[in-house]
Amino acid sequence: AKQTITVIPGDGIGPDIIDATIKVLDKAGCDFNYEYADAGLVALEKHGELVPEETLKLIEKNKITLKGPLTTPVGEGFTSINVTLRKQFQLYANVRPVLSFKGTKARYDNIDIITIRENTEGMYSGLGQTTTEDGSEAEAKSLITREGAERIVEFAYQTARKEGRKKVTAVHKANILKSTSGLFLKVAREVAERYPDIESTEMIVDNCCMQLVMNPEQFDVIVTTNLFGDILSDLCAGLVGGLGMAPGANIGKDCAIFEAVHGSAPDIAGKNLANPTSVILAAIQMLEYLEMGDKAEKIRAAITDVIESGDRTTRDLGGSHGTTDFTQALLDRL
Ligand code: NAI
Ligand code: MG
Repeated sequence: AKQTITVIPGDGIGPDIIDATIKVLDKAGCDFNYEYADAGLVALEKHGELVPEETLKLIEKNKITLKGPLTTPVGEGFTSINVTLRKQFQLYANVRPVLSFKGTKARYDNIDIITIRENTEGMYSGLGQTTTEDGSEAEAKSLITREGAERIVEFAYQTARKEGRKKVTAVHKANILKSTSGLFLKVAREVAERYPDIESTEMIVDNCCMQLVMNPEQFDVIVTTNLFGDILSDLCAGLVGGLGMAPGANIGKDCAIFEAVHGSAPDIAGKNLANPTSVILAAIQMLEYLEMGDKAEKIRAAITDVIESGDRTTRDLGGSHGTTDFTQALLDRL
């Protein structure tokens, strides 16, 4: 049977870059059914909810979702839609690869790093957010479980093995956050013992930031907790040319959501300026997940050729073209 994919175009630049991605998938000969669903501001306006029940049902039914960025309204009592989706579908692993292309404005051209971020626990999950009535004190709860830590570190080593990677670096702050980061590091060390074929290293997160900027070639697979992973993966995007180049897969036991790392980019929305590469790379992750590696390679080759030859690239890559021209350059190759 044909694979059906839930598609959420999302807000801001979302509809344009998702549209580009579907065109690329179709041109590459991927024979999918697409079911479209609303989420984000667009859904709030149409249905009075950021994530309508119908959208949740489609995500659950089709198991595979391709998603554009969603705008979360600030300070209106809304919780982040992305955090909600990741929790609701137990999408515990956030896989964020960055890979250099030659001939862009990026600082480096030899980067190939996968950040694997725990996606449901820790500081980022928004547990116990309270502020005292007089506004003088605020607190939040950070919860790390052995089960959650073991699940993500195992996932990182399994990914490393599957992709022929040589090294896994556990990033932490166990020297200061003794209980939470301490538990994560303890579990990471235990899991590392089970994978003698892979080199295991560990690094404190602040040093890791410096090392990523000074000497990023040393990194292969990074595994870390939720908030550190959020920050480090944007840093990694910066090594390869910015947020337009950084995809992410949110993977759970039976559902997965593929998206760009970046947001809805309101500053360039509707101007035909967005680089669609992040979502197209997320679609490549989706094809790999679906074991359609040949299609994934075909699309990756087109991206590599367009970017490295500078044929109709977008401004963030050093070119002078828009979303539609760049997409056409990809379609021409396919
Ligand atoms: P952003 O990622 O939307 O934009 C940051 C900067 O990167 C902007 O200058 C933007 O123009 C540029 N940029 C982003 N994607 C680009 C692309 N594909 N091509 C070229 N340039 C690109 O971050 P910002 O402005 O902090 O957030 C905007 C909204 O997005 C917020 O409402 C935020 O909550 C939401 N957001 C949603 C995410 C998601 O749905 N996964 C992730 C991050 C933010
Ligand atoms: Mg982020």
